Amino acid sequence: MIFACLLLTLLALGSSSAQTEQVIRLDGGNCTYAFGVNERGELQTLYWGGRLGAHDGVPPAHSLPEVASFDSSHTTTPQEYSGWGAGLFTEPALKVSFVDGNRDLVLRFVRAAPSGPQSVEVLLKDISREIYVTLRYSMDPESGILARSASVENREKQPVLIEQAAAAQWTLPSGSYALAYLTGRWAGEWTLNQELIQGGARVIESRRGTTGHQANPWFAISRRGGDTAAPVVADEEHGEVWFGALAWSGSWRITVERTQLDAVRVTGGFNPFDFGYKLKPGEHLETPVFYGGYSDHGLGGASRLLHRFEIVRILPQAPDPKPRPVIYNSWEATEFKVDDAGQIALAEKAASIGVDRFVMDDGWFGQRRDDHAGLGDWYVNPQKFPHGLKPLIDKVHALGMDFGLWVEPEMVNPDSDLYRKHPEWVLNFPGRPRSESRNQLVLNLARADVRDYVEGFLDKLLTENDIAFLKWDYNRNWSEPGWDQVPVDEQRRVYVEFIRNLYSIFGDLRKKHPKVEIESCSGGGGRVDLGILHYIDEVWPSDNTDPFDRLSMQDGFSYAYTPQIMMAWVTDSPHWLNNRSTSLSYRLLSSMQGSLGIGANLNHWTAEDFATAKRLIAAYHSVQRTIVRGDLYRLISPRDGSGMSAAETVSSDKNQAVVFAFANATQEGRGFPPLQLVGLDQDAEYKLSSIEGKFRPGTPASASGAWWMRHGLQLDLRGDYQAAAFQLDRQR
Ligand code: GLA
Repeated sequence: MIFACLLLTLLALGSSSAQTEQVIRLDGGNCTYAFGVNERGELQTLYWGGRLGAHDGVPPAHSLPEVASFDSSHTTTPQEYSGWGAGLFTEPALKVSFVDGNRDLVLRFVRAAPSGPQSVEVLLKDISREIYVTLRYSMDPESGILARSASVENREKQPVLIEQAAAAQWTLPSGSYALAYLTGRWAGEWTLNQELIQGGARVIESRRGTTGHQANPWFAISRRGGDTAAPVVADEEHGEVWFGALAWSGSWRITVERTQLDAVRVTGGFNPFDFGYKLKPGEHLETPVFYGGYSDHGLGGASRLLHRFEIVRILPQAPDPKPRPVIYNSWEATEFKVDDAGQIALAEKAASIGVDRFVMDDGWFGQRRDDHAGLGDWYVNPQKFPHGLKPLIDKVHALGMDFGLWVEPEMVNPDSDLYRKHPEWVLNFPGRPRSESRNQLVLNLARADVRDYVEGFLDKLLTENDIAFLKWDYNRNWSEPGWDQVPVDEQRRVYVEFIRNLYSIFGDLRKKHPKVEIESCSGGGGRVDLGILHYIDEVWPSDNTDPFDRLSMQDGFSYAYTPQIMMAWVTDSPHWLNNRSTSLSYRLLSSMQGSLGIGANLNHWTAEDFATAKRLIAAYHSVQRTIVRGDLYRLISPRDGSGMSAAETVSSDKNQAVVFAFANATQEGRGFPPLQLVGLDQDAEYKLSSIEGKFRPGTPASASGAWWMRHGLQLDLRGDYQAAAFQLDRQR
């Protein structure tokens, strides 16, 4: 068993010679992180990488020299948390303006103290002003993932304006690296990008008030060998990878810089764009947490560490979250046309195939005929549900399922009673247009009255109805983000207070209704990050449910997030987005790689469809734990252009492996390549069973882990949009 240890030899500001001898070192999993105080009193990064020997020393901090007269030592020396001042030209962590015009901030070490078994707090202070920064470090003993954040405190007699505040800065050793990051758009989330880290800076960010579909606050940096002609695609299973994820659901920014000394630095936190947080005397600003980790098993190793960390440390049901129930949701089948009779008819059919949870989507409340009206009015629509939700919920329970409901709490349609009563509740600048998206405006959750209204109606809804699950949607991004009820110089606090209030509503609701589970949806995957994952049980990765598109999206998603939270519905064919036709079993197998749901119009299914779904949902239930909680190995990428893809998950005790394989477009008669499995116990005997699809003749029914990993097996899988799945079970 690996324990974390904190070697804290540096306790308080003593004589400068004593400080510079000292090093703070955190160990966890396969990682060591170390920093110290240099001769100027700056907190300097010393090491981040593979775990060092318990008795190895880390040389003390000493600033790096200036480069000619242009790059001062403040710029060349890697600081743990740099203030903008004293000739710093690289990305600062903190930038502050004082009322007297001073904008120079130089942070020096004051003291450090352990704050837990693997945690330390370090206090920094400006050289003359009463600005204090507490840096928090907490190392996860198992994964070696380090949680870092900062708290900025104003002990001056006057307010200060924080113009930029990062959660953390990470520095890698000098070298040649490739960066992986995720971008996308509505219905096209989770594209994995990989590029060489060249001189200059690569910025990934959201300016939208929310996490965003367009980029996700995650990065992975792989060390490249000396071969500069090698393609910029990191190895899945080999090589060093440094990765990080920012836990924030508002505007955020991660800047990856390669300095003139070839050091790579990553700075991430609140997005400085349009930022300005006025900190009054005595107040402090807490940044989000920026998690960082290290693997020497390639991108695959990095994502397995993150998956496990999310499950064991982040999710509200950590360390052992329940596998997600198989859900039915009629959004794609009925859209807004929900009513008692229609939902009950679908619920009966859903129950017959083994669905665990029935979810009613948009359309049940207010005057919600379509997306033009009703958001904000959270009463049950009396025409559609004349006796409230109880008859439907009772029926769903009688069918052996629990009941979930769609809400979009932070939004309002101008055509709603709520907006007519409280037009002042939306984000806006007085006298300026209020730009609508999907005919809706954003309620300003930073306001205490709006926050209380939102929590109040949700609390009432959950108290009055037996609801097991909320699909919490958020279907637009901010525009005109004004907050005119507070003084002008405090209005930009909206970027922080909105998200803090969102988190506090989640926190309160979970306390008051501990059995209720929540999904984060934002027109698909627009709000997925480690901040919101503290409060919710699952996410909706995309509105795009095309099973072929989903293969690449799910693959991209899996670099940062565990399949446990990845909801995936089987919907109708041909698909509404691409007009692509696929078989029901292909659709099911594509969705079974995450947390399975059914979103098809069951009224159009044949008896054969019901039989196929029932069989595969039963198979899914029996291997679900391995799929969503096991170690994921991406065997063949859906992005590699071969027309084939495959992924394997192995249970942590190595007793079971489940493999999904897809032939999306076979060409030139090439069969599916032999699948050499990974992660099994080479000496154990494993029995092979098909979940769907056939093997090539001669494939053994049982063989050693070594055989499956070295010789591998061949599937009989060819054609367009063909899928197979199988499992291996250890024999006793
Ligand atoms: C968003 C969600 C969909 C559905 C609709 C309802 O687009 O992502 O799944 O809930 O809203 O309006």
